[in-house]
Amino acid sequence: MGSSLAEVDKKFSLHPYTNLKVHEETGPLIIEKGEGIYVWDDQGNRHIEGMAGLWCTSLGFSEKRLVDAATRQMMDMPYSHTFTHRANVPAIELAEKLVSLAPADIARAYFVNSGSEAVDSAIKIVWYYNNALGRKQKKKFIARKRAYHGITVAAGSLTALPYAQDGFDLPMIDVIYTETPHHYRCALENETEEEFSTRLARQLEQEIIDADPDTVAAFIAEPVMGAGGAIMPPAGYFSKVQAVLKKYDILFVADEVICGFGRTGNMWGCETYDIKPDIITVAKQLSSAYLPIGAVLLTDEIYQALAQYSDELGMFGTGNTYGGHPVSAAVALETLKIYQETDIVNWVKARSTRFEERIAALQNHSLVGQSRSVGLIGAIEIVKDKHSKEQFPVSDKVAAQIMNAARAHNVLVRATPGDGVAFCPPLIIEDHQIDEMFDAVQAALDDVRNKLDS
Ligand SMILES: Cc1ncc(COP(=O)(O)O)c(C=O)c1O
Repeated sequence: MGSSLAEVDKKFSLHPYTNLKVHEETGPLIIEKGEGIYVWDDQGNRHIEGMAGLWCTSLGFSEKRLVDAATRQMMDMPYSHTFTHRANVPAIELAEKLVSLAPADIARAYFVNSGSEAVDSAIKIVWYYNNALGRKQKKKFIARKRAYHGITVAAGSLTALPYAQDGFDLPMIDVIYTETPHHYRCALENETEEEFSTRLARQLEQEIIDADPDTVAAFIAEPVMGAGGAIMPPAGYFSKVQAVLKKYDILFVADEVICGFGRTGNMWGCETYDIKPDIITVAKQLSSAYLPIGAVLLTDEIYQALAQYSDELGMFGTGNTYGGHPVSAAVALETLKIYQETDIVNWVKARSTRFEERIAALQNHSLVGQSRSVGLIGAIEIVKDKHSKEQFPVSDKVAAQIMNAARAHNVLVRATPGDGVAFCPPLIIEDHQIDEMFDAVQAALDDVRNKLDS
């Protein structure tokens, strides 16, 4: 088994930058309205939403077509469920659209209300599937350290960040935590990306052997790790990992909750990194976050096993009141239509050039050890010493200071574990707005440098 999350914490100084006491003392940032990529707080300040909220408002804050789609559906039929042989037209159309957009082999969609629920449902589906195949022991999950997969009891067990587990008695399910594919922080000296990927794949194989392959059901991964620090996989990583998983008949669950729908410059993160998933989880940009909705996407092979087993048991006993909610489904369907009509994928690809240039330029700053991006997601890694990559003491919360300084320059970004600062703006951002955003980040870095030096 891999090392515990406590060790991860020490190694990367993973710290939360806020807590309930801070929240009480300083109060929240209250957002009152939005337009395009901008939001206004209750003091009248206009900010660029450089994180698209929580990596989700792809179409910005004033897409009227989504408001109209919700209004129309509310008027026609505000509620119907998808439990016990019921369905509604928007949910059916959305399922068809999602399957048509999804990577090959994906044939079915199951609706829930959030990313956490999607991951929880994917876990249950994997277990049910292995029970259907008579593989009662094959139940363990593999997650990567620093992964974020949600906060519910099962999904939170896969979220390999100490702050999401400490105090909550997690993990509650059997999880193997394997190494973070973060070349900058985890590679050995002079190890190339390919060599690093080979080592991680070998290590993964050993962990599977140690755990007993007959007990390992699935590997879950975000194509780009989001909340753990916007970490892109090293070259060759996913092809080497997939070869190991195939050898031991272990399913690949791609958590596309952040990466899905254009974020990485392709419709799916799986396309960007040549991943062939058995199951995909989606949420967030599925509806541009205008209403809560998530989904689990499945191959037909898995679906057929579930169908047959549910026949044996008498019921597929999982579903929920709001799964496939017609208003959320109508908004999601309209979101997907907008993505297609505006060719959002190629828009992101075109914008990613400027985005990459501006992030890369930050690497010249004395506080930035590494900068990285793909599509319209990226991060900088804050260091005390560029050469040794030494971090500032956790208690200095330097990344959080940069986040706050950026806010003073009217740009909202996010401090991440490991003293990173992440950027994930709405996909509709334009080049001049990318400049506006990174000019502010540059100024924030200068402010914090000056403060540290004074
Ligand atoms: C990759 C990933 N999976 C799952 C989730 C959980 O989604 P939600 O917050 O909608 O429950 C998140 C949330 O940030 C995420 O980034």
